[in-house]
Amino acid sequence: MILSPSLLSADIGRLEQELQALEQAGVRWVHWDVMDGHFVPNITFGQHVIGMMRKRSRLFFDVHLMIEDPDRYLGAFRDAGADMLTVHAEACPHLQRTLTEIRRLGMKAGAALNPATPLSFLEYVADDLDMALLMSVNPGFGGQKFLPITYERIRRFRVLFGERHVPVEIDGGVTPENALDLLDAGAEILVSGSSFFNGTPYAERRLAFEKC
Ligand code: DX5
Ligand code: ZN
Repeated sequence: MILSPSLLSADIGRLEQELQALEQAGVRWVHWDVMDGHFVPNITFGQHVIGMMRKRSRLFFDVHLMIEDPDRYLGAFRDAGADMLTVHAEACPHLQRTLTEIRRLGMKAGAALNPATPLSFLEYVADDLDMALLMSVNPGFGGQKFLPITYERIRRFRVLFGERHVPVEIDGGVTPENALDLLDAGAEILVSGSSFFNGTPYAERRLAFEKC
């Protein structure tokens, strides 16, 4: 299992220290939620902030673009130091081309689906994907309630993809309490914002998820 704490819930004013503390706590991935105020109602940070932090952190940067027309920014996020770049299928009319371009730029390519989007959106891009992100809330905010239909979506995704192994990441409302059921259903990467950053020391929190 890979845990990817979402920096949306971290202390953004102390990002450098937060990244150091996460690394010291044994965390390997961090999740960056990029929002543009169009694809989702909220606005967060962009390539500039990520690029500044790239110079200060060796963590794997798992960048989740919740933006319209992400094709315009693929190069900018590569230059900023994203390791994995995930675009929303709903925002990409030429998804196969977008995923191919992300890989050509040297990043891992992820595609995200909102809770209401059919899984078949990804059926014909299996070979172009390094990860599928299944949203377990409607994107835009941290701290929302987990949608239980997610379990069924993960299981169906596994059936749909059969032999083709595409790691599934779950994002939204993930806690140590539902982590085991998510892993049992077939998820491999768990994003956690508000539950991870709940005031507990990070090493302890990491163990709570890993021991679930
Ligand atoms: C939601 C974001 C999530 C969010 C998760 O739009 O994509 O990554 O930070 O936060 P929690 O874990 O609080 O639901
Ligand atoms: Zn996210």
